[in-house]
Amino acid sequence: MGIPTGPLPLAVLGFLVLMWLLKLRRAHSLYALEQQYGCGNVVKEKVSRLDFLGVLKLLEFAHHFRHKTALEYTDTLFKKYGNTYMSQILGYRIHFTCDPANIKHILSTGFADYDSSKLRGPLFNPITPHGIFTVDGLDWRVMRDQLRTQLSNNRRICDFVMFEQQFQTFLQREPPDGQRFDIQECFISLAIDIQSGFALGDSVGSLHPSPAPAKKHFAEDLHVIKETIVRDGFRGPLRHLSRKLEFRRSCARARRFVMDYAEREVAQGISQDNAEGYYFMKGLNEKGADAAQLANQTLSILLANDSIATTLSGIFFLLSQHERVVSKLRQIVLEEIGPNPPTYDLTSHTSSMRVCDSSQQLP
Ligand code: HEM
Repeated sequence: MGIPTGPLPLAVLGFLVLMWLLKLRRAHSLYALEQQYGCGNVVKEKVSRLDFLGVLKLLEFAHHFRHKTALEYTDTLFKKYGNTYMSQILGYRIHFTCDPANIKHILSTGFADYDSSKLRGPLFNPITPHGIFTVDGLDWRVMRDQLRTQLSNNRRICDFVMFEQQFQTFLQREPPDGQRFDIQECFISLAIDIQSGFALGDSVGSLHPSPAPAKKHFAEDLHVIKETIVRDGFRGPLRHLSRKLEFRRSCARARRFVMDYAEREVAQGISQDNAEGYYFMKGLNEKGADAAQLANQTLSILLANDSIATTLSGIFFLLSQHERVVSKLRQIVLEEIGPNPPTYDLTSHTSSMRVCDSSQQLP
């Protein structure tokens, strides 16, 4: 049998050689990176030979996300393969890690080395077309610096009086007779109320029994947006199979809602009284950001608010199972801060200052 010639076999051969060379080059650069950072051999997840492209793996992910078992699922895999392992999803090598050193590196020391716009851009574009979650490189650096300037002063951004008011409203949602209730839902509302008060200078008041309709819709729209972004993030390319009408409508309404605030802020100009009533949008406006930037940055931090709610829910879930820890915590709070809400007054609450000033800053 002779060697096939002609344009088609040669094109196929050329394509295969090119693929092979690209693979070789990629393997070489990965090896160089592994040497540079002293990475160990990463464990590979064992999957069926039939799923060499990782299609079943993607379906499995989507299934667990849908049935709210994603946490148990990833937890089982970490137990099986260790703190860091690699999987193949739709031909991509995906690394999973719960190793604190890796997480610290990715989110803190080496943050700028990890681009995310390819993955996040398509998810976040409808709501924050040019926000911190959709850009990389220099644009990301500019946004990060803007945020750092606004968020680095704890005393300015943590308004204890506002926190206390919101917290008291939150307590009223708790059933009086020790009944079980969904604390996560309440924390989501608490977080959005605090975050909107901080970001817009006007809380959406979703914990109140009768919030203003426009604000109520905004909180609902944000919920739809966050749910869709997270769900689609899990689904990967399969997200194109689902309808996006509700998501797009929610994005358009939520953007309009925040743009109204942004346009009013810009129209008002720069306040002469800097000390009075800081809020995020006002601070950004004073630094010369335009209305679109105000809206993008504000929506980005409003979208980040689930982090607060889920952290609090997780903490309270654990506390509810460990009475000894609760009583120790309570004792420490009483000793360090006293029975009244904390203040920044150094003379009467030295230790509460210490607690607050040690909180994290954006890297
Ligand atoms: C307990 C509370 C919080 C937790 C656990 C948390 C956690 C995180 C994590 C893990 C990331 C990195 C996500 C990633 O890149 O994949 C992140 C990013 C971010 N968080 Fe938070 N966060 C919290 C509160 C907040 C608050 C209160 C704000 C705003 C006022 C905020 C704003 C942001 C922003 C803007 C980013 C994107 C940073 C960037 O891409 O450079 N977060 N947060």
